[in-house]
Amino acid sequence: MVKICCIGAGYVGGPTMAMIALKCPLIEVAVVDISVSRIAAWNSDQLPIYELGLEEVVKQCRGKNLFFSTDVERHVSEADIVFVSVNTPTKTQGLGAGKAADLAYWESAARMIADVSKSNKIVVEKSTVPVKTAEAIEKILTHNSKGINFQILSNPEFLAEGTAIQDLLNPDRVLIGGRETPDGQKAIQALKAVYAHWVPEDRILTTNLWSAELSKLAANAFLAQRISSVNAMSALCEATGADVSQVSHAVGEDTRIGPKFLNASVGFGGSCFQKDILNLVYICECNGLTEVANYWKQVIKVNDYQKNRFVNRVVSSMFNTISGKKIAILGFAFKKDTGDTRETPAIDVCKGLLGDKARLSIYDPQVTRDQIQRDLSMNKFDWDHPIHLQPMSPTAVKQVGVTWDAYEATKDAHGVCIFTEWDEFKTLDYKKIFDNMRKPAFVFDGRNIVDVEKLREIGFIVYSIGKPLDPWLKDMPAVA
Ligand code: UDX
Ligand code: UDX
Ligand code: ADP
Repeated sequence: MVKICCIGAGYVGGPTMAMIALKCPLIEVAVVDISVSRIAAWNSDQLPIYELGLEEVVKQCRGKNLFFSTDVERHVSEADIVFVSVNTPTKTQGLGAGKAADLAYWESAARMIADVSKSNKIVVEKSTVPVKTAEAIEKILTHNSKGINFQILSNPEFLAEGTAIQDLLNPDRVLIGGRETPDGQKAIQALKAVYAHWVPEDRILTTNLWSAELSKLAANAFLAQRISSVNAMSALCEATGADVSQVSHAVGEDTRIGPKFLNASVGFGGSCFQKDILNLVYICECNGLTEVANYWKQVIKVNDYQKNRFVNRVVSSMFNTISGKKIAILGFAFKKDTGDTRETPAIDVCKGLLGDKARLSIYDPQVTRDQIQRDLSMNKFDWDHPIHLQPMSPTAVKQVGVTWDAYEATKDAHGVCIFTEWDEFKTLDYKKIFDNMRKPAFVFDGRNIVDVEKLREIGFIVYSIGKPLDPWLKDMPAVA
């Protein structure tokens, strides 16, 4: 029986290992983590992450061939294949602060593997890491190996949150990179055999180590670039009277471009896009590729611009002052069907509105009050100028209301901002909302999910990203 151990029971490690356990009943899978509370949650009825279909998969395998444990060393020492799926945040101090990936968790995991191993192992990079990390990890392992053979593979994960189970069940591709030596090739085949339990062979791509590492950063950079491209167009649409949905449809019909990932929004969020692009930028700079670095930096700059533009639009529409005005925020997660708020555009836009002294009332079906308050009081780390900006004062954060109901959040509000495309926001009773709001009543749709015409008929003044402007908004001062 093959034994697999995964270090890191997070958004990637948890669902990926659950799927391997489901599809490979003869493989024993242990997911380990230093966080006692996280492991306890994985072993309970309240899983630590919200993901459609995950609970069913976990319930089917847990206790049979899927185990969650804090006994990291024992499971690592017993495993044939060790996945490393620990966090790799952006460095906040020292060399490369604001851009480079912090590999401290990775290094400590690698040293621990070397310490506790008594048999040969395949060590698989699962978390996104800078290109050539495998080489560094290989050095740590071989210098501490006591004669044990470690083979390093890079097997980046492409799942998106909210659709993790579907993405894992039916991936566009699985990518495995390894050394071009006989041992390296053998290790690639061993991992390929695991995925081949359910993924068609022609979708399992094998490359060298560096290509696999770089492909992950490149894929995220390309995806984010599409969003910044359509968001840049959205600003131009508002200026010219074009409709960004019509433009992206027309553009996406070109099979060379394709229709997916062209939805204009208040900005992209999530734990990956910004972090991976910053990482890419840093690697380019370290290699003296300034032009390439600047090209990718621009993707983040446009994303920041889009969030600022949104704040400016809200303030300028409401007579240039939102001081003391109640603004309802619908949606705080970085996308629908997840409770994850990492890098959500809602954080920056809410801080912008709070900076102008608005009173916020926030509702998200999956995000708790504690999480929202933590997010808003956290230091904002400026990627371009790595200094910590002032966090929101505790009093300002306390003034933020968090409700469990969209109607409660919008009651007596002057404006409503939509930041997450939750399905339930499409079918709200907007007439009822309008009747309970102050007038003029504004809706600022950061996800283009409301029926603009219908809301205008009800009486709302509506701003929808990249759509022809409401006459009211046209009369308001220009937006930066
Ligand atoms: C382009 C558009 O494709 C077409 O839809 C539009 O109507 C006119 O402009 P064209 O310039 O004729 O057409 O050729 P195209 O095939 O798009 O190639 C443009 C340039 O890009 C060429 O120099 C080509 O060699 C280069 N190219 C194209 C690449 O370098 N890499 C690629 O992957 C594709
Ligand atoms: C992303 C990649 O899609 C995935 O392959 C990788 O493994 C991890 O990073 P994730 O961050 O979970 O996944 O979600 P994704 O669906 O890519 O959305 C990222 C952000 O872009 C969200 O804030 C989303 O709302 C935004 N987005 C997405 C848009 O604004 N417009 C779009 O058209 C698509
Ligand atoms: P991702 O989104 O990449 O899955 P997460 O932050 O959700 O990232 O998960 C990473 C997990 O890795 C966390 O639960 C963290 O506690 C765990 N972790 C970090 N370092 C170690 C380590 N040395 N040993 C075990 N677990 C670790």
